[in-house]
Amino acid sequence: MNILEIKNLSVGFDIEINREEKFFYALNNINISFEKSKIHAIAGESGCGKSVLINTILKLLPNNALIKSGEIFFNGENILNYGEKEYRKLRGKKIALIPQDPFMSLNPLYTIENQLKEVSDDIDVIKSALEEVRIKNIDNVLKSYPHDLSGGMKQRIIIAMAIISNAELILADEPTTALDVSVSNSILDLLVDLKNKGKTIILVTHDLSIVSNYCDSATIMYLGDIVEYGICNELFKNPRHPYTKALLNALPNERGKKLENIKGNISPITEIIEGCKFHPRCNFMLEKCKTQKPELVDGCACFLNQ
Ligand SMILES: Nc1ncnc2c1ncn2[C@@H]1O[C@H](COP(=O)(O)OP(=O)(O)O)[C@@H](O)[C@H]1O
Ligand code: SF4
Ligand SMILES: [Mg+2]
Repeated sequence: MNILEIKNLSVGFDIEINREEKFFYALNNINISFEKSKIHAIAGESGCGKSVLINTILKLLPNNALIKSGEIFFNGENILNYGEKEYRKLRGKKIALIPQDPFMSLNPLYTIENQLKEVSDDIDVIKSALEEVRIKNIDNVLKSYPHDLSGGMKQRIIIAMAIISNAELILADEPTTALDVSVSNSILDLLVDLKNKGKTIILVTHDLSIVSNYCDSATIMYLGDIVEYGICNELFKNPRHPYTKALLNALPNERGKKLENIKGNISPITEIIEGCKFHPRCNFMLEKCKTQKPELVDGCACFLNQ
């Protein structure tokens, strides 16, 4: 069963260029479904639209953003029709967000205990959630302020909040980017624990090694488009889109060496690219790729697979 279904979603921003405000798309007609009790990766380089997608689900977009079209069904209800009051019942309750910087979700002026008590006033529920995220000196941690805690500990507190609120869906936007490798792995292990308890996790990352080690399915995005999606085992065994292949080739091997860097850089959304948006960087480009945009067919948007 799908817990979340996104249909024909297009989102963009009003951006001032040469003193004139223009609209540019950051997400183009996104269609994607998320099965319950799995870890789903959204992957791609920085600037692909991953955070815009996550923030659209929770309607946490900046003022210059506009949702041009689309529907987002959470447990069968189109939440994009919700008003702010209904969204407040969703955010941090049925749908939790684990941001890249946990400081953003914690109030520096309150102790951890006071902040967790805003989610539940039952101290036993709070303590059991802190045990679940493997925090040891619980009484000391409860008395601490966010600045007393390391990045990894703060991220554990945010995950504990999601457990206390009993959120069904957890959106984790690069939750380990600011952490060192061993702390990062222990946070990702906690996400696997949550999945095993029936939660659904959408994990945004630019790191395909995290995708291959922790996720069940992956959606690869490039400049606001889905270019490939599939079950992780299949995607890693048989990547089809040249962008997915390039991301995999850019991963360091066991000896820390990359096979190949992806040529060029991702463009800003203000630069309109005709045809396949990846064509300026693609090693397999055909003549028609410069003018025609490939459709997403059978999980891959590339003429070589159609
Ligand atoms: N408030 C904004 N105004 C204008 N452009 C924005 C804004 N927020 C994000 N963008 C642009 O949207 C694109 C996608 O951004 P984002 O979703 O943050 O990328 P990712 O999370 O994949 O790194 C980028 O080109 C980014 O510059
Ligand atoms: S459609 Fe063409 S440019 Fe785009 S990824 Fe495929 S081969 Fe490369
Ligand atoms: Mg981001």
